[in-house]
Amino acid sequence: MEYRKLGNLDVSVIGLGTLRTFDVTDEADLAQRSQIIDNLLSNDINFIDSAAMYGASEKAVGVTIEGKRDQFYLATKVRIEGKEAGEQQIAQSFENFGVDYIDLFQVHNLIDTQTQLPTLERLKEEGKIGMIGVTAMVDEAYPDIMDIMRSGRIDTVQIPYNVVQRTVEEGILPLAEELGIGVMVMEPLKKGRYVNELKGEPDLTPLKEFGVSTWAQALLSWVVSDPRVSITIPATSRPERINENAVSGSLGTMPQELRDYVREETVRML
Ligand SMILES: NC(=O)c1ccc[n+]([C@@H]2O[C@H](COP(=O)([O-])OP(=O)(O)OC[C@H]3O[C@@H](n4cnc5c(N)ncnc54)[C@H](OP(=O)(O)O)[C@@H]3O)[C@@H](O)[C@H]2O)c1
Repeated sequence: MEYRKLGNLDVSVIGLGTLRTFDVTDEADLAQRSQIIDNLLSNDINFIDSAAMYGASEKAVGVTIEGKRDQFYLATKVRIEGKEAGEQQIAQSFENFGVDYIDLFQVHNLIDTQTQLPTLERLKEEGKIGMIGVTAMVDEAYPDIMDIMRSGRIDTVQIPYNVVQRTVEEGILPLAEELGIGVMVMEPLKKGRYVNELKGEPDLTPLKEFGVSTWAQALLSWVVSDPRVSITIPATSRPERINENAVSGSLGTMPQELRDYVREETVRML
């Protein structure tokens, strides 16, 4: 597994997202998530992203990493308007995870950033959180994200970047590189759509020699082959897919002609 700097942390280039997939409460589902956590560890994956808005996700992460908390970096997000409401939601995240320290706290989709940032800055000063980030999903938010990056108040950004959504190549990625801001990539598989809903079967033959044997691995390798990306966080509810996705963290840089092939094939098959 390759590790890169995300702010001041050394993170595995493949991490874990938990939107929908960790919004579970019943015992059988939680047991399967525990297997996911074990598979993360056996693949040297050390980073998990959640959010206050992901239903039971923070709690499910908290329960399934019990006794293993020191082997993971935890990230989550505040998404609410108002100072007091923000403070309450943030406190609830600590409780949900069952921890007294959170490695990265992000403002979710720039909701009331100007109110939530000072709260996060205070928590960072007090040593309760390690880093501060912001997330955004739509191109229209990028000018605001770039202003916040230039303000020096954040350590990370979380944005979509995949074979089809490439706007960040123009502004966010070069600026992050210039300022030393960590880049987390959400939705590397476009919520699974780029793997599950393709009209045709991609021909994997050209990618075999590079070490890729599934289309999900091709798409993840495509993302982390950009050196400005610190980490991507595919989500899954299936433990075996952790092993599959982790392969992309050990392949090194995908040659440009293969990167072009993966992009062209995906676009052709959508
Ligand atoms: N605004 C924000 O801040 C924001 C927005 C979106 C996402 N995020 C973060 O980014 C993370 C990733 O995004 P995402 O979960 O929306 O989408 P994603 O990671 O692109 O796709 C997840 C889906 O892909 C499927 N999948 C995973 N590995 C696979 C494989 N090897 N083969 C086939 N299918 C596979 C999973 O289905 P199975 O369960 O069946 O494996 C899951 O439904 C989120 O979990 C969240 O942490 C943040």
